[in-house]
Amino acid sequence: MNKVAESISARAAAETDATQHPLRLARRMERLGTETAFEVLVKARALEAKGRDIVHLEIGEPDFDTPANIIDAATDALHKGFTHYGPSAGLPELRDTIAQYVGETRGINVTADEVVVVPGGKPIIFFAILALAEDGDEVIYPNPGFPIYESMINYVGAKAVPIRLREELDFRLDVDELSALINDRTKLVILNSPQNPTGGVLEKEDIEAIADIIGDRDIMVLTDEIYSRLIFEGEHHSIMSIDGMKERCILLDGFSKTYAMTGWRMGYGIMRADLATHIARLMTNSNSCTASFTQVAGIEALRGPQESVDNMCAEFKKRRDVTVNGLNEIKGFSCRLPKGAFYVFPNIKKTEWRSKKLADALLEDAGVAALSGTAFGDFGEGYLRFSVANSIENIEKALERVGSWADKNL
Ligand SMILES: Cc1ncc(COP(=O)(O)O)c(C=O)c1O
Repeated sequence: MNKVAESISARAAAETDATQHPLRLARRMERLGTETAFEVLVKARALEAKGRDIVHLEIGEPDFDTPANIIDAATDALHKGFTHYGPSAGLPELRDTIAQYVGETRGINVTADEVVVVPGGKPIIFFAILALAEDGDEVIYPNPGFPIYESMINYVGAKAVPIRLREELDFRLDVDELSALINDRTKLVILNSPQNPTGGVLEKEDIEAIADIIGDRDIMVLTDEIYSRLIFEGEHHSIMSIDGMKERCILLDGFSKTYAMTGWRMGYGIMRADLATHIARLMTNSNSCTASFTQVAGIEALRGPQESVDNMCAEFKKRRDVTVNGLNEIKGFSCRLPKGAFYVFPNIKKTEWRSKKLADALLEDAGVAALSGTAFGDFGEGYLRFSVANSIENIEKALERVGSWADKNL
């Protein structure tokens, strides 16, 4: 049999297998969403494999290397035998270090038993929603927003209630709208500041007003602060710092964005100790623990020199300015100046193109990978997300390509 015939017969055999034993997924899998950034990356890589030159502005990760002192701490830990299982909630020394760090940065008292270390920031979203929300509950989440919130709320069978982030408010949420969405079924409110995908940052007054609205209701708040160190104007404010809110908050933060450690997989949640034991139980049931040598490196990240964080933030700010200025020169595009994170979220309504179609065209015709605003929910229609985690040279190349594409096609 030649190669083509062999492959056809193998495929036919596989199809027969598939029909003989259909995959009987649990129904809940139909409700699980995804993160489009990874799909666009695959598409962009396929074009590159065919010889196309693509500028990558789709990825949500720093393009910097992890600082050398952190890498040294990890290799040292490997040689010292941190190659075994550790406690599900994290190594005691790292939990202590995180408690101190969050205590200082948020102006609250945090103890180690209120810290759970997990592989990345994402598992805190996964576990918190899994532990708290179920059929009959409502969860309010930002839209446009990180797609995993909506995906997980749907997955656990709760009702996903979007709060629209509006451009005219610089993508801070409208507190009156939030108030109107809260009812007796509201179990959880998700906040994210600085925000992905818009770069919006909640001001102190916003946080205070949100706490006021929640009042003394029995509602938990998942406050996703993974970009807390990437702020260009003003300061980071956490709802967990507000009197009376601490025991109703789960604060998510981590190492991925702050220390350019996305591939290390390490993040954490701060929450009341009784909830922490349940989240640790979910860790026992899923991962056992976060990699031990990675956690030793995490201690170095928090206690060691912090210049790399400041330098990275200053560089992102420069790139943000170049990107926003450039986009505002492009026909049909208008872009506000985001105050944090490393994304810009231009309005493309004047192009009269749907976001997804425009993102596809920019990738295929102009060789620029960006994400459709709708990858972040229905209220992302009319916008695109560009990540500025690429060099100024590449950002300028992308802007030029998008600009000439717009001149030709709009
Ligand atoms: C808002 C937000 N939360 C959480 C995460 C997850 O971060 P990690 O890579 O540490 O899981 C991301 C990553 O893009 C994010 O944008």
